[in-house]
Amino acid sequence: MPDGSSVVVLPARGVRGVVRIPGDKSISHRYAMLAAIAEGTSRFQNFSAARDCASTLDCVGKLGCEWRRFEDGAIEVGGVGPRLSAPSEALDCGNSGSTMRMLSGILAGQPFTSELCGDESLSRRPMARIMTPLSEMGAKISSSPGGRPPLKIQGGGLKAIHYKPEVASAQVKSCVLFAGLFADGETVVEEPIRTRDHGEIALRAFGAEVERVGNASRIAGGQPLRAIAAHVPGDLSSAAFFLCAAALFPGSQITLPGILMNPTRARLLDILVQMGLKISVTHLEEHQGELVGTIEARGAGWKEAIIAGADTAALIDEIPVLAAVAPYSEGGLEVRDAKELRVKESDRIAAVADNLRRMGAEVEERPDGMRIRGGQHLHGAELDSFGDHRIAMAFAVAGLRAEGETTIHGADAAGVSYPAFFEELRKITE
Ligand code: S3P
Repeated sequence: MPDGSSVVVLPARGVRGVVRIPGDKSISHRYAMLAAIAEGTSRFQNFSAARDCASTLDCVGKLGCEWRRFEDGAIEVGGVGPRLSAPSEALDCGNSGSTMRMLSGILAGQPFTSELCGDESLSRRPMARIMTPLSEMGAKISSSPGGRPPLKIQGGGLKAIHYKPEVASAQVKSCVLFAGLFADGETVVEEPIRTRDHGEIALRAFGAEVERVGNASRIAGGQPLRAIAAHVPGDLSSAAFFLCAAALFPGSQITLPGILMNPTRARLLDILVQMGLKISVTHLEEHQGELVGTIEARGAGWKEAIIAGADTAALIDEIPVLAAVAPYSEGGLEVRDAKELRVKESDRIAAVADNLRRMGAEVEERPDGMRIRGGQHLHGAELDSFGDHRIAMAFAVAGLRAEGETTIHGADAAGVSYPAFFEELRKITE
């Protein structure tokens, strides 16, 4: 029998309808953190409902910043300016790597000591990638062996650096740029591959000057931030589950209004179009520097794709769902250059391969990717979320085309990014 957090997915004939996707998680984290150190009260409509973003709000609350959530989903954050208050207890980042990595950048600039901890999954994730640049800037940081959480940060008195991270990570880039606000001089982050630029866009929205030339983002220290009012665009990485569901069934039709169309995230749409999904984007608008549009998608066959190099970085959060539905495609999917997937909320390469095999699929697992043949028939099975929100949701979508019932254990993990996901999926399933 399924336990309280298991979800059963039945085979479907198609998906149809309109889904209003909650606010983007990446943007919501950044807005909450920058609002905390801005002057004045910021208000955000459609702020993410994700548990991860609640972790960020909880942390900024412990740093002396008052916030409240309204019934319509909006939140207000009372900024305290650049100086936060020393927390009286450890800052619990829950499951959220974004909270720990980006908030560390701000804490590195504060003249007090703070401690950041997280759940079991976060406690396994690599933090050396932010400890190295923040230490170079002058913060004193200690961690558990191997650069794992918890972190202890003694901040203050930062100097600017020119940093070239080894991994392509928007979290690292935002962390260093946020620390750059508190540094003496101009901080530069030169990334190996272009990653999502919500940090730069949010900093500009709050009034800071951030220059971008080639792959380098530069910020001068000491710039004051002022509160903003913003509407957070719908999360494209959450929309991905519904788009992949539509791709599974020729004749399906879904509409997703108000979705983030930032070019550093929208590569997903190109890949889906290349694979055969019919997509049109209408009502393009800009909100606080972020592009937003309505997506209309129609299922129509499903070819093959290779995701490698810069595409892997651009699609890092969507690869689990693309891989979960790949066996139903004609030509399958090959993913390369993706060793980062092994250090996400779970080892996503192993988790995808394990669940697909339980459904009867053949998968070739590689150290930095996978190859999944198309034209396979899957059957329902008992699957595991591995405590990872994107794995739980990806396999709910895969279950729609399987023969028989699919049970996803640990399905409540979905709440880390999308608490209402299963309810919304049920509403549009035919
Ligand atoms: C995020 C960046 C990505 C992504 C994560 C959110 C962000 O991580 O996987 O879900 O908001 O900057 P990395 O930057 O570590 O690749």
